[in-house]
Amino acid sequence: MPFCYLNFPSARDDLLADVLAGLAACPKSIPPKYFYDEAGCQLFEAICRQPEYALCRIEQALMASRLGDIAAATGGVDCIVEPGAGDCMKVRRLLEVLRPSQLVVMDIAGNALATAAEKLAVDYPGVAITAIGMDFVHDLEAAAPHFSSGRRLVYYPGSSIGNFSPAEVAGLLARFRKLAGDNGLLLIGFDLKKDPELLHRAYNDAAGVTAAFNLNLLARLNRELGADFDLSRFRHYAFYNPVEGRIEMHLVSLEDQLVHVSGKGFQFNSGETLHTENSYKFRCDEFSKIAKTAGWDLSGEWEKDGFGVQLYA
Ligand code: AVJ
Repeated sequence: MPFCYLNFPSARDDLLADVLAGLAACPKSIPPKYFYDEAGCQLFEAICRQPEYALCRIEQALMASRLGDIAAATGGVDCIVEPGAGDCMKVRRLLEVLRPSQLVVMDIAGNALATAAEKLAVDYPGVAITAIGMDFVHDLEAAAPHFSSGRRLVYYPGSSIGNFSPAEVAGLLARFRKLAGDNGLLLIGFDLKKDPELLHRAYNDAAGVTAAFNLNLLARLNRELGADFDLSRFRHYAFYNPVEGRIEMHLVSLEDQLVHVSGKGFQFNSGETLHTENSYKFRCDEFSKIAKTAGWDLSGEWEKDGFGVQLYA
């Protein structure tokens, strides 16, 4: 069955520019999408196996147990679009129950995506699969010509949406609305606001996998940009900020130090932070209010152990 892999330039061109801009800003920051090089993808999968980080397991259990209801609520779908599909494992369940004729998966980690999508193509020979290595935030609209006609479902699971602030969520969901079309659907999963101690533990696992994931960002900059970060001089620091409703992940400099990236020097003072990720948590009603401003009407809602899945039309 047709399998097609495309690689958009946005997936590879921005790293240096974004890092230089982020290190020059105050406070220093780097967008979380850059966590996901090959080692980062593997570390994220390892995070999902940690006892403290139940997010992925709960979502999978929820999807498994409510799959029939969810499928019925869609009323049938011709094309599934999954931005940030990663290892393409989550969409398998949906392919089995919805049996669309086309699947379009996108991810900034293009090589990993291509490998995963090729396996999908073998396992689901009835589905035309298009994999696009791209930063969908950058140019989602450029993918539109690769969609077949018919009813589209945008699938955005895993609380990936948590990396965006409420204002950014509204903007992104409005773009999903355009992409899906007037009769389109959105199926989205997000982590719910809950006991801050539970959240804190999920991002400070005892085995140190989240710390390794965070620090791997610096290792990636060393590998890909010839930077000279000394990982032992930075501390993984993650906490829940209940005012903002988000986990914040930081890499805090343990001493005064000068770091070089692509010939440019950046001074870190002792205790200064490099902010690497926000992971927003929502309430269901909070989220549907944002989605409404983006033109989406809630048509189904499922909840389990602090995780929410919503269907919009
Ligand atoms: C992939 C964005 C859902 O925010 O929980 C896990 C990434 N960061 N541990 C999240 C992550 C640290 C994850 N998302």
